[in-house]
Amino acid sequence: MKTLAYDIFKTTECAALSVWPLLGCGDKNQIDGVAVKAMRHALNQIAMQGRIVIGEGEIDQAPMLYIGERLGTGDGPHVDIAVDPIEGTRMVAMGQSNALAVIAFAPQNTLLHAPDMYMRKMVVGSQAKGAIDLRLSLVENLSRIAEKLDKPLSALRMITLDKPRHHDAIAQANALGVKVYAIPDGDVAASLLTCLPDAQADVMYSIGGAPEGVISACAIRLLGGDMQAELIDFCEAKGDTPANRELAQAEHHRCEKMGVLINHIYLLNLLVKSDQVIFSATGITQGDLVCGIRQIGDRLQSQTLLINGTDGTCNIINSLHY
Ligand code: FBP
Repeated sequence: MKTLAYDIFKTTECAALSVWPLLGCGDKNQIDGVAVKAMRHALNQIAMQGRIVIGEGEIDQAPMLYIGERLGTGDGPHVDIAVDPIEGTRMVAMGQSNALAVIAFAPQNTLLHAPDMYMRKMVVGSQAKGAIDLRLSLVENLSRIAEKLDKPLSALRMITLDKPRHHDAIAQANALGVKVYAIPDGDVAASLLTCLPDAQADVMYSIGGAPEGVISACAIRLLGGDMQAELIDFCEAKGDTPANRELAQAEHHRCEKMGVLINHIYLLNLLVKSDQVIFSATGITQGDLVCGIRQIGDRLQSQTLLINGTDGTCNIINSLHY
C-alpha cells in the first residue's frame, strides 16, 4: 500500500483533468463516461491487484467502474478500491462549485461492501468524537455535539445538502438556533469540512449516496473524526410509491447478497476497518475543500488532498500540467 500513494493521487488528477474541457456542458452522462474511462486507464497502470468494492452508477445508471471489477497490472499488493470518478456530475455539468474526483484504497476486506443506494450519515470532527448516535433524533444529536464542543446551539454549524428530503432536518436545526449551510450537492466535501483543522462546519448530516459515505469514512477515520451511517431503502429516502417500492425491494435483495444490513447503524470502525488506507480527492470546480482546476496561460493547475494512513500524512498538492 505504502508505495501506491503517488499512483493513487495521479488517478484523481487524471479523472479531474479529463472532464475539465466538459465543464458546464450540461451532459452528466458524457462527463461520467469520460471520467470513468480516464480513471480506469490510470488504475490499470498501477502495479497492484486491485478490486472495486465501492463503485457508482446503479442509482442513475451512469457508466461505472463496477463493483467486482479487477484493475491494475496484476502484480503487487491486493487492494480494495472505493471510487467516485466524479463526486458531483451535476456540478460539473452545470459549472457549480465543489465537484471532486475521489478515490480510496484499503487493504482487502476492510471496507463495508455497500451497494449504490441511499445512506443516512452523520459526521463530526475529532473534538466531537463520541457525541453522535444515529439511534437518537437529530435534535438530540445536535444538543450532544454542542455540549461536547462546549458551545451554545446558536454557535453550532451544520452542513447538509439542499434536498427536499432534508427540509425537515433543516427546519429542526434552525428551530434550535443552529446555523445550517445547505449546499446543492457533494456530501464528501461536506463531510471532510467537519474534520479539517480549520473546520468550517461542526457536523454534517445528510441522506446521500452510500458509496460517497464509505469513501468519506476512509478520510474521516484518518483525520480522527467520527461518523455513523445507516443504509436506507429508496422508499425511506424518496417516499413510498409503487415504483419506489419496487426499487426498494431490489435494494433489499442486493444488500442480502452483499451481506450488509438496511436500517442498521454502522459505526466508523465498521465502515472502514483499517488505518492503512489512502484517500485522494482532486478538485474539478472551485470548492471549499480544494481549489478547482484553473487555466494559467497554456497550463492547467490542479489541487489534490492526499491523506495517507500508511505514513500518517495529509498533503495538499498543487500541480501544474504542461
Ligand atoms: P453525483 O456524483 O451522483 O452527482 O453525486 C452528488 C451527490 O450530491 C452526492 O454527494 C450525494 O451523496 C448524492 O449526490 C445525493 O444523491 P441525490 O443526487 O440523489 O440527491
